[in-house]
Amino acid sequence: MSDQKIMKADINPRLHAFLRENNIIPKTGGARLDQVKRLVVARGTSVSQYTRHHFSNGTMFISPIGYMSYSSSFFPGGSIGAFCSIAADVSLMGDAHPMDRVTSHTFTYENFYRSLVKEKGGTSEAAFRPYNGSYRGCTIGNDVWIGGQVLIKNQVSIGDGAVIAAGSVVTKDVPPFHVVGGAPARIIRPKFDQKIISRLQRTAWWEYDIVSLSSFDMTNPEKFCDEFEKRQGTLQKAQARKVSAEEIAEAFGA
Ligand SMILES: CC(C)(COP(=O)(O)OP(=O)(O)OC[C@H]1O[C@@H](n2cnc3c(N)ncnc32)[C@H](O)[C@@H]1OP(=O)(O)O)[C@@H](O)C(=O)NCCC(=O)NCCS
Repeated sequence: MSDQKIMKADINPRLHAFLRENNIIPKTGGARLDQVKRLVVARGTSVSQYTRHHFSNGTMFISPIGYMSYSSSFFPGGSIGAFCSIAADVSLMGDAHPMDRVTSHTFTYENFYRSLVKEKGGTSEAAFRPYNGSYRGCTIGNDVWIGGQVLIKNQVSIGDGAVIAAGSVVTKDVPPFHVVGGAPARIIRPKFDQKIISRLQRTAWWEYDIVSLSSFDMTNPEKFCDEFEKRQGTLQKAQARKVSAEEIAEAFGA
């Protein structure tokens, strides 16, 4: 992702109020919203209300995460579902470079080198050809748990309910409700048996309000499904709305 997509702003009382109202708050170290001095968010992304975000040295980094999700890492793009738990030092791989050219070095397409060549008296630009290897993000489902120090390849999809082991390098899509680990990440095991996985997928419990969900015993997936299927019609769906980076920018007067 190019740096122009990242917006940085010092916080002001209006922005504090906006974040408080939307329940977009810092995650780590017991930090409170009034300890946030600066904000970092990527243009074109959106974030759900009721989310907690990476906080370091007074700066809160807002990632595009869903209802009740929290992230101790910064995601400058992509989409992330509800009830996700993302540990520290999780990152997405950087931009692609061309591998079919003589060189994968950026001098064949970066303006910096084009200008340098001109400055040094070069007259031919035969080497220069456009190249767009820019970052596109990844898609992460609901109730995904990503352990610490994980590296994720761009455009990968991680299914609902998946678990990514600490230190993994995720290079391929991860199926729903599977635990994967290693570099490259391979399936370690399904999280539950297939019957339970299918039932949990049908409940789509992560679309519901945390108050409704709190009335269930969550320790036994099978009993949870029995109970959820019985009461589903009476449960309240989450009402959280998505807030765009542009709305946040407006609140800080950018
Ligand atoms: C993935 C994880 C949840 C598995 O826990 P578990 O069910 O107790 O798994 P086990 O320790 O029994 O290991 C099961 C298999 O997975 C492998 N495995 C476990 N963690 C792994 C890792 N980080 N990378 C690669 N393989 C791993 C084990 O070697 C074992 O392999 P084997 O069956 O070939 O012997 C856990 O190891 C992990 O990575 N947790 C993340 C912790 C974290 O980062 N927390 C941050 C807070 S948000």
